[in-house]
Amino acid sequence: MADMLLSTGVHDTIPSNYVRPENERPHLDHVIADANIPVVDFGASDKSQIISQIEKACRLYGFFQVVNHGIDAELVKKVLAITLEFFRLPPEEKAKLYSDDPAKKIRLSTSFNVRKETVHNWRDYLRLHCYPLEEFVPDWPSNPSSFNLPWDVVTRDVFGSYCKQVRQLGFRILGIISLSLGLEEEYLVRVLGEQEQHMAMNYYPKCPEPELTYGLPAHTDPNALTILLQDPHVSGLQVHKDGKWIAVDPKPNAFVINIGDQLQALSNGRYKSVWHRAVVNSNKERMSVASFLCPCNSVLISPPEKLIADGSPAVYRSYTYDEYYKKFWSRNLDQEHCLELFK
Ligand code: SIN
Ligand code: FE2
Repeated sequence: MADMLLSTGVHDTIPSNYVRPENERPHLDHVIADANIPVVDFGASDKSQIISQIEKACRLYGFFQVVNHGIDAELVKKVLAITLEFFRLPPEEKAKLYSDDPAKKIRLSTSFNVRKETVHNWRDYLRLHCYPLEEFVPDWPSNPSSFNLPWDVVTRDVFGSYCKQVRQLGFRILGIISLSLGLEEEYLVRVLGEQEQHMAMNYYPKCPEPELTYGLPAHTDPNALTILLQDPHVSGLQVHKDGKWIAVDPKPNAFVINIGDQLQALSNGRYKSVWHRAVVNSNKERMSVASFLCPCNSVLISPPEKLIADGSPAVYRSYTYDEYYKKFWSRNLDQEHCLELFK
């Protein structure tokens, strides 16, 4: 099945099993240019202003961007360069890492869940679990050995540092989100437990017929918080708001943050885990590196008393993250919002 990888070939047309039915196509001409996705300056001195900006962004968009976030810009450049190098490896190197088993914690794959889907997506991706680092780094791929540096240096100094800095930023954002819900700053980090962290390094090759398919179709993220590094040069992420798709164009030195299903449930529906999708284009390949923070499997997802006592009954029943994740993967990515099944 490794021959399904898109990044190993050149494509003049798209195979029929990538073509969406007429009523599911992206209609790229109807997409709204990036207008109002909030940008939050994490370097600002007025914390109460950051809290209120994030409160509004999470409630109205489920998405925001952060600048002055503290993640080293040089490190980010290296992460993107290595990602590109990785997808340009010879097919035989990539074939060694290929798997379509969603349970595998380190794997190169394509589309979303090729075992289940009827229509595939125009994406290859490398999934790497990265917390705790010591557990997973020995199994990370040892190719390419970028910048003429040995791979252990690359993993330790580039990916290791990147994962740690992303985790730190994620925890800081969870702190602000807690405060914005009227909870103590440590609340969400505490209830989410010793959070798992993994990355999807996405590669969307040039696509000869971008109107017929998706990089990723509309979906919500099953985790708690997503920290997305977009290709600095190519747009592709779109967010659903008020019945329309809005393009989130890349912004220099910014990360795109989105609320996952677990924060929607923990906030008792106040914050939204919003539909988003990645579209492709015929001129340029595109990359993105998504980092996911996820509750421990055993964590019981149930909103705090305070958000129920405020006059709003619990919107979802309590469940463990393990239960949720299994349900999420048993469906197709673009089916109904998975949280609907927990009402
Ligand atoms: C994602 O939703 O996980 C990735 C979106 C993107 O590539 O911009
Ligand atoms: Fe996503």
